[in-house]
Amino acid sequence: MSADRFSASPAEGVRADWTIDQDWPRYTPEEHQVWVTLYERQAALLPGRACEPFLNGLKALDLHGDGIPDFAELNRKLNALTGWAVVAVPGLVPDEVFFDHLANRRFPAGRFIRRPDQLDYLEEPDIFHDVFGHVPMLTDPTFADYMKAYGEGGLRATRLGRLQNLARLYWYTVEFGLIDTPEGLRIYGAGIVSSRGESVFSLEDPSPNRLGFELLRVMRTPYRIDDYQQVYFVLPSLQRLLDDTLQDFAPIYARLEALPDIAIDAITPEDKLFTRGTQAYAKTHAA
Ligand code: PHE
Ligand code: FE
Repeated sequence: MSADRFSASPAEGVRADWTIDQDWPRYTPEEHQVWVTLYERQAALLPGRACEPFLNGLKALDLHGDGIPDFAELNRKLNALTGWAVVAVPGLVPDEVFFDHLANRRFPAGRFIRRPDQLDYLEEPDIFHDVFGHVPMLTDPTFADYMKAYGEGGLRATRLGRLQNLARLYWYTVEFGLIDTPEGLRIYGAGIVSSRGESVFSLEDPSPNRLGFELLRVMRTPYRIDDYQQVYFVLPSLQRLLDDTLQDFAPIYARLEALPDIAIDAITPEDKLFTRGTQAYAKTHAA
């Protein structure tokens, strides 16, 4: 995700669009090993938990377990599938820069990889989260179109002062989304598939609420960045996500201005209930 707490101009050695070279030959054997370890853990967990488009994307991109992928090679495959490319950035970039990349089918990815003592948690997105987590879904044509539209929508929401609402949509779909399938709930969110703990928690733990996706509802719901989610929203299909977001958001933003936020653990009478969570995890891990 992007952040605006950073200076508005790129540091030295960073291009005007905030991209840098991946410099793939510079990764050390230890860094490649961190990727392999993370990859193997998730590859064992995700069949039967991640959705088919994600698992197919992983296969189509050949993101196998021998080390950190080389973006040049990855982009040849990705570009042929949906016109997307991955570009390296030094870390979080300003919101407008992030949106502009998405609007042009470029996904900004961190170049660094976490240290071996950070396998389970780190605050800033690294290359494992950004590439393993996000890029497989970009091979799905519907999701790929959604991400491009989201970039355009981000630029617009910034002008209209509704970025907080739109950021919630990103959070509860791109990062932490679940999808309903005939075989049961599956994960498509990058924040989940790149986390060993949340890959299990999001689907199997009795604590969180799991509610049907409703655009306006999602945009009224705050989220937490410091721990597992207290609520997940479940899509009936990726097409529904694209269809809902192709409409003009200006009237929706206008409505949101008058509507209060919905508490993070609330269930409203309008919600389609998949799971009524106990919130037990959230209660024992209160900040
Ligand atoms: N359709 C939205 C608008 O009019 C833009 C958007 C597209 C937002 C996709 C999110 C995702 O602003
Ligand atoms: Fe992310």
